[in-house]
Amino acid sequence: MGAILTIDDLKRRARRRVPKMFFDYADSGSWTEGSYRANEEDFARIKLRQRVLVDMTNRSLESTMIGEKVAMPVALAPTGLTGMQHADGEILAAQAAEEAGVPFTLSTMSICSIEDVAEATSRPFWFQLYVMRDRDFVFNLIDRAKAAGCSALVLTADLQILGQRHKDLRNGLSTPPKFTPKHVWQVATRPQWALQMLGTKRRTFRNIAGHAKGADDLSSLAKWTHEQFDPRLSWDDVAWIKDRWGGKLIIKGILDPEDAEMATRTGADAIIVSNHGGRQLDGAPSSISVLSDIVDAVGDRIEVHLDGGIRSGQDVLKALCLGAKGVYIGRPFLYGLGAGGKKGVALALDIIRKELDTTLALCGKRDIKDVSKDLLYAPHDPFGTGAGRR
Ligand code: GLV
Repeated sequence: MGAILTIDDLKRRARRRVPKMFFDYADSGSWTEGSYRANEEDFARIKLRQRVLVDMTNRSLESTMIGEKVAMPVALAPTGLTGMQHADGEILAAQAAEEAGVPFTLSTMSICSIEDVAEATSRPFWFQLYVMRDRDFVFNLIDRAKAAGCSALVLTADLQILGQRHKDLRNGLSTPPKFTPKHVWQVATRPQWALQMLGTKRRTFRNIAGHAKGADDLSSLAKWTHEQFDPRLSWDDVAWIKDRWGGKLIIKGILDPEDAEMATRTGADAIIVSNHGGRQLDGAPSSISVLSDIVDAVGDRIEVHLDGGIRSGQDVLKALCLGAKGVYIGRPFLYGLGAGGKKGVALALDIIRKELDTTLALCGKRDIKDVSKDLLYAPHDPFGTGAGRR
């Protein structure tokens, strides 16, 4: 293995170290994976304007997201089963984020619990909420996030039902889990992963286990989550969630200007333009291609963030130019985690930070807060085909 210089290098290393069913879980999109691919491909179509002979000294990547100071406007996205990419994955990723000065978002479907992560960190993290049918469980989850000092609640709006991911079904990651010789083989061929996993007690959905009736062991828990995602969730529910939470609220999974408009009326602090990493509606446009229309629709009434397809600092800059106040990385940090635990996550963030810094300079800017569409080639048609405009 040569030097690790890119997120793709981390991905290759993670593939060799993480059992296939968990690596594939992170790497999957739904059905044809067309929207997953589009997220990356559309970033590649945007071209940056090179500017020369401008003073590039004293550059700054510092900014804010929902009023919180960030060393760069790049947060770690909420991702399910993170503690299966590496033992204690959520704790390690949260610690790496804290050291890098960027927000960490813990998923409801995490392996380490809210309390586990709070105990191991000192910077407040953000908590992502899935709304379950068992409302007492949800009330309690919100209260636990509050008690742990979480500084934002990220409400996921696009997963009342699950987009089908073929790889997960083929790998037998469906619920309840099956333990076939194939799985035993996948784990046995990743001995370092297996040893680390044996060394932790955190191997199930610890936000849920022990907190919900009928979800005590791994198999009942899997059944519970499968049955619990609430398909009735609607815009009307945002009010009670906001009320119960009482703090900063971010709505994740907005892909349409009309939904962005609805989100502004809820009084939320931010939205995340997202197609759930291409894991939900296959055939939906890439997140980056709809960003500009959404920013135009909401103006400065709500902060706009983006996730989906970011694999480099260049991608971060492109999203900021098109109006995002901040972005999230999901797979890039999971690949780092799988490749090398906390150090791997730190490396993923460092790769992106260096790329962002140099790219900013080569575009002739010194302050990340100064970027706009002016840095893009053909700013009125950045995708070169009229794509991305409704
Ligand atoms: C959960 O959020 C998933 O996309 O698997």
